[in-house]
Amino acid sequence: MPTVSMTVNGKSVTGEVEGRTLLVQFLRENLHLTGTHVGCDTSQCGACVVHVDGASVKSCTIFALQADGASVTTIEGLAAPDGTLHPMQAAFREHHGLQCGFCTPGMVMSAVDLARRDPDLTERSVREGLEGNICRCTGYHNIVKAVLAGAEAMKVTAEAAE
Ligand code: FES
Ligand code: FES
Repeated sequence: MPTVSMTVNGKSVTGEVEGRTLLVQFLRENLHLTGTHVGCDTSQCGACVVHVDGASVKSCTIFALQADGASVTTIEGLAAPDGTLHPMQAAFREHHGLQCGFCTPGMVMSAVDLARRDPDLTERSVREGLEGNICRCTGYHNIVKAVLAGAEAMKVTAEAAE
């Protein structure tokens, strides 16, 4: 079987995969990073979103071999090493942006990418930007509030780091 190597959450990993193994399968089954969820088989739900070289990607839509050599971040890699939540994670908690939590890892990963690409998010741009993430519980209202607050907190964190 072919071998794939990539960096996942800052660590170098290597594994044997079949050509048809999806990135989400590699993450969940080979690496046991089960925070990345699978909610559909039609590439619609967004529960599987991770970052590949900094951009959000539905990890059920690419083969593991396509991520060979890439840097991948999953929800497990978002918090600081001491466990301090990423500002977007903290905002989801603060603003009750989840109920069952199944969609939340993908929602948070998409939201972080969205906030990085557009520092001046509006309710409308958040709703449009998260069109590829489906939540069956919340009605989205608190998710939008959380993303707007998380994006503001990310700006503050980035300014503090300058
Ligand atoms: Fe639903 Fe990937 S599992 S979009
Ligand atoms: Fe349940 Fe979104 S919180 S699917």
